[in-house]
Amino acid sequence: MKKFVLRAVAILLLLNLIFPLAACGGAEDDVTTIRIGVALYKQDDTFISLVSQELEKYAMEKEAELGIKINLYISDGNGSQSAQNEQIDRFLDRGYDIICVNVVDRTAAAVLIDKAQNAEVPIIFFNREPVYEDMMRWHNVYYVGSDGAGSGVLQGQIILNAIENGTVIDRNGDGVLQYVMLEGEPGHQDALLRTENSVRVLTASGIAVEKLAGDSANWQRGQALEKMRTWLRDMGESIELVIANNDDMALGAIDACTELEMAVEDMPFIVGVDATPPALIALQDGTLKGTVLNDAEGQAHAMINLSCALAFDEPISAAVELVDGNYIWLPYVTVTLDNIEDFLEEE
Ligand code: GAL
Repeated sequence: MKKFVLRAVAILLLLNLIFPLAACGGAEDDVTTIRIGVALYKQDDTFISLVSQELEKYAMEKEAELGIKINLYISDGNGSQSAQNEQIDRFLDRGYDIICVNVVDRTAAAVLIDKAQNAEVPIIFFNREPVYEDMMRWHNVYYVGSDGAGSGVLQGQIILNAIENGTVIDRNGDGVLQYVMLEGEPGHQDALLRTENSVRVLTASGIAVEKLAGDSANWQRGQALEKMRTWLRDMGESIELVIANNDDMALGAIDACTELEMAVEDMPFIVGVDATPPALIALQDGTLKGTVLNDAEGQAHAMINLSCALAFDEPISAAVELVDGNYIWLPYVTVTLDNIEDFLEEE
């Protein structure tokens, strides 16, 4: 019996030598803690705060799963690129293993990539996409996000489907959809692509549209409320459709209608993107007609899985699905009253 036990221990020790990094490598002493610096462009952005919460939650799940320690250091750039540069300098000075960046100004990515390369620390951009040339500067640069054009297309399809199903959006019956566009930050890839593609889907299907007004509300509910308040004052009922580049701005438009004590059935047809919890409530009460899931959870999981693979020098393709070398794309999903239950369950 004693001989058997000794032999079993010897085999276990040998296996440990051969496969020291089994299960994402948690067992090796010098890599049991991963330190990840996460630089947010603005913590109080509703969608970004969902990504950030999910990063913390999933890191804890991953720690339990792998028996390792994942230390997340989350900083808030508060909309300032110079503040974010300093935060990233600090992350690199402290020797963190991976840097995740939600870059304030997309044109500043090259500088950050060069800093990371000098320090030999992999850098994962998310949500705010650097231009392709910057992404190609170094092999250890990654991007995790969703394709903005796709969400615009889905928004357009929500409107088309509603028309096909008999919803009267063209309230004055002139054969033209009079709309206003609430845009995200100027220069943000999602703002540009959603604005363009939502309308393109309508016109490509033969729907006549007329843009009454459009302006940036920088993703923000309060700014969208102000814009919509002015538009309603100037154009009132002639606004038949509100296309908002995200849910917070769609909710701002709804706030402006509510301020005027408009009945739900008198509000224009309003659509957003993100599928945030307050937007799902607005969908249920009928003020928001549709949204598109921007997968905060999927993006956060991809970032942690990728970080883990990079830190343990494991094959990245086993952890995440890479496209064009360095991109990880999470699909968008249409959310309307028809399928809202699927998303409420996930809450
Ligand atoms: C978009 C999202 C917006 C806002 C923005 C910040 O993808 O739809 O709500 O969070 O990112 O970069």
